[in-house]
Amino acid sequence: MTDLPHVIVTGGAGFIGSHLVERLLAEGRRVTVIDDLSTGRVENLQAVSAHPNLQVRRGRVSDCLDLADLVAGAEVVFHLAAAVGVELVVKSPIRTIQTNLRETEVVLEAVSRSRTPLLLTSTSEVYGKSQKDAFREDDDLLIGPPHLGRWSYACSKLMDEFLAMAYARERGLPVIVARLFNTVGPRQTGQYGMVLPRFVAAAKAGGSLRVYGDGTQTRCFCDVLDTVEALVRLPRCSEARGQVFNVGSTEEVSIYDLAKLVKEIVGSSSAIEWVPYHEAYAPGFEDMLRRKPNVEKLFKFVRFRPQTRLRRLIERVAMV
Ligand SMILES: NC(=O)c1ccc[n+]([C@@H]2O[C@H](COP(=O)([O-])OP(=O)(O)OC[C@H]3O[C@@H](n4cnc5c(N)ncnc54)[C@H](O)[C@@H]3O)[C@@H](O)[C@H]2O)c1
Repeated sequence: MTDLPHVIVTGGAGFIGSHLVERLLAEGRRVTVIDDLSTGRVENLQAVSAHPNLQVRRGRVSDCLDLADLVAGAEVVFHLAAAVGVELVVKSPIRTIQTNLRETEVVLEAVSRSRTPLLLTSTSEVYGKSQKDAFREDDDLLIGPPHLGRWSYACSKLMDEFLAMAYARERGLPVIVARLFNTVGPRQTGQYGMVLPRFVAAAKAGGSLRVYGDGTQTRCFCDVLDTVEALVRLPRCSEARGQVFNVGSTEEVSIYDLAKLVKEIVGSSSAIEWVPYHEAYAPGFEDMLRRKPNVEKLFKFVRFRPQTRLRRLIERVAMV
């Protein structure tokens, strides 16, 4: 067992992390998960809980006293641990900023000693209110002002990106940033504001599907298995080091059409209800009209682009 390549996944008991862990174990890796279970759940790892090559450490990344030793022998570190979810972010901006900055700083410092390759998950939120057809990694970013707590997530993740790029330049650290666009799939919870699990749960329960704003805002939803495919491929591509990559689907749907599609797939007669943003989140809440990635850079480097169609994806989520 000890001869197997060792991979560390922070946030490995979370939604995306747990799918990544399953994939790595299936590929014959030895995996150590570090997760404080703040938004993740032990049940997410149920399918692999007895796997002999999985070790789960419960606790904050920054409380892991032997982190530098742990990462020293690792093939790669995937850093996914973060405060995530618009509702959580709006309610707890201090926790969001502190978690996203501090934990990433600790991970970067730990891997920099051994130069262990690191993949850091950032977010499409960093593009902010920018209004482009499809965002490219080298675009300018337009983040809202600090009195609106919602931007604290984007800003803290962007600072993580700057710090990662600084480590790459100044210390030669092999770090890659993956900017994830909306990722969905089984095990995602709607508890922190994620739209698809909220809609599916409401449609199944016969409750109304609450569309925030006027519902014309569009998003692209990426299957978590496609996201994992991209995450696994990126660190294996040496040219990708020191670079930022969009990871997401390019199939656009308005939130109103998403609600209708969910109802149709679930076979539900639930009502669709419009909820103003200030009621759903907070006064002055700002949303972006579109958020679509350009994924040509990802394809160029790793010969992969997410391709699961939205209908299939909703069926997968609704089946659980
Ligand atoms: N799901 C998406 O659509 C999406 C979009 C963009 C970016 N991301 C990024 O992907 C990553 C994973 O997100 P997710 O959707 O799986 O969310 P998640 O909340 O399910 O996963 C985050 C995990 O990190 C853990 N965690 C939080 N703080 C921690 C700490 N200090 N120490 C150890 N563990 C900690 C949580 O318990 C949780 O298991 C995050 O970095 C997030 O910013 C996700």
